[in-house]
Amino acid sequence: MLEARLDGRNPTIGIVLGSGLGSLAEHVENACYVPFGEIPHMKRSTATSHVGRFVCGELGGTCVMVMQGRLHGYEGNTAQEVAFPIWLMHKLGIETLITTNAAGAINESFAVGDFCIMTDHINFTGQNPIVGTEPDEIAFRFFSMKDAYDPDLRSVALSIAEREGIRVQEGVYLGLLGPSFETPAEIKMFRSWGADTVAMSVVEEVIAARHVGIRVLGMSLCSNMACGIEGASPSDIEVFEVARQREYDFCRLITLIIREIG
Ligand code: HPA
Repeated sequence: MLEARLDGRNPTIGIVLGSGLGSLAEHVENACYVPFGEIPHMKRSTATSHVGRFVCGELGGTCVMVMQGRLHGYEGNTAQEVAFPIWLMHKLGIETLITTNAAGAINESFAVGDFCIMTDHINFTGQNPIVGTEPDEIAFRFFSMKDAYDPDLRSVALSIAEREGIRVQEGVYLGLLGPSFETPAEIKMFRSWGADTVAMSVVEEVIAARHVGIRVLGMSLCSNMACGIEGASPSDIEVFEVARQREYDFCRLITLIIREIG
């Protein structure tokens, strides 16, 4: 059904746009639009600023499938429902996934407005999208999560950011269920575990992508310092304001990365 709506377009790169980062979709040329709600078995997005549609067309010289908004566990979705669009994109031929979000910075050497390329993750959602799939129904059930965040894609992203003078960090991302922000005690614990950033998305998508062999680039915008770091108390208003301020560099960086890897 979705394939028919793409009118002959053959996307190879999937992009998930996180909170406040949806404007990249406006740069997609020759685009077609499919709202999540029109796709059988797919949940609608209820999160603020998540438009909740696929945008398919040209970006950086490549045919891409953009999710303008995503599904979260905190909206009441199961991990499989969150991962469903990733499996859908796999069926459409997507080989590379760029997943993005706004995140709280736990690492004190990071600053609000920095981008952070994910080197690895800690899945603290308590869920896993592969649970309950029939053994080897989609792909082999037990699969490695080593180098889940593709080292080659990471180095492309880093060198482009450096060349363009865009502040970028690298670090371990911790994903949790939400929707409450974390307590200062939790953030201290996550830091001692080796986490550099924290938010409420991405990990289910990356597990689903790796399950079917899609290579992944994960990138956060540090929209705030995590709770208790430098006295911070995160709010969604701050998250959206910082995303708005960093929108230009975000769009530039992702488009240049696609130009290089597409
Ligand atoms: N915590 C969890 N999720 C987030 C944060 C945060 O500090 N910032 C943006 N999303």
